[in-house]
Amino acid sequence: MRTPLVAGNWKMNLDRQAAVALAQAVCARADATQGVDVALYPSFVYLEEVARTAAGSRVAVGGQDVCDQEAGAFTGEVSSAMLRDVGAVTVLVGHSERRHVYGETDALCSAKVRQALAAGLQVCLCIGETLEEREAGRTEEVCRTQLLAGLEGLSAEQMRSVVLAYEPVWAIGTGKTASPEQAGEVHAYLRGLLSAPFGQAVADATRILYGGSVKPANAADLMAVPDIDGALVGGAALTAEQFLPIIDAAASTDR
Ligand code: PGA
Repeated sequence: MRTPLVAGNWKMNLDRQAAVALAQAVCARADATQGVDVALYPSFVYLEEVARTAAGSRVAVGGQDVCDQEAGAFTGEVSSAMLRDVGAVTVLVGHSERRHVYGETDALCSAKVRQALAAGLQVCLCIGETLEEREAGRTEEVCRTQLLAGLEGLSAEQMRSVVLAYEPVWAIGTGKTASPEQAGEVHAYLRGLLSAPFGQAVADATRILYGGSVKPANAADLMAVPDIDGALVGGAALTAEQFLPIIDAAASTDR
């Protein structure tokens, strides 16, 4: 049985006060709600304060990115050990904005995944096709390449610390959501891909989140799809008014 996970990716938004206030509201709701896990990904600079706010609650706090190297002369980068040091337990890798705005390759994402897992972080690996790729009929090929490259060399044991997020690039921040059928098809395909390298038990146990314009209005329909195990939420994660109902929708989905 996969417990759904609702994760808020705050991106480069919110100031200190707003971040702490929102974290408090999310922790209160998560602690009062059964049957759903919750994670928050604040900016690096507020991570420690948000992690302190969430300490003792059911909310996991994580970084939006991490360096592929352990330590050293990498100006501007943040290591896995530093993330752990300030209270992060999880990290996003390969978010589409990292891939498409900052040019991160599959090889870099793979190195980040391995580095983060080695340091004891959980990883949420994000994958997804662009509109052009979808229209060219390349959705499965693109997702397969990103998935298998990102997870290359991991053991079945390490996969227990990995969550996947399918985020079609054309649905992120655009207000266009993949329909439950469109998302469900890709999720089922991705789950199928996990069984060859990692075995059926890992394929069955791995949570695959959907991301891309998830809102209170569409969350319940998306999460009713059997292979959709929660949501990675951007815009609607920035206010309690929008984010808390998404947590509720995941918790009340019959599974
Ligand atoms: P969105 O972002 O919910 O604003 O589309 C999702 C994401 O980028 O993770």
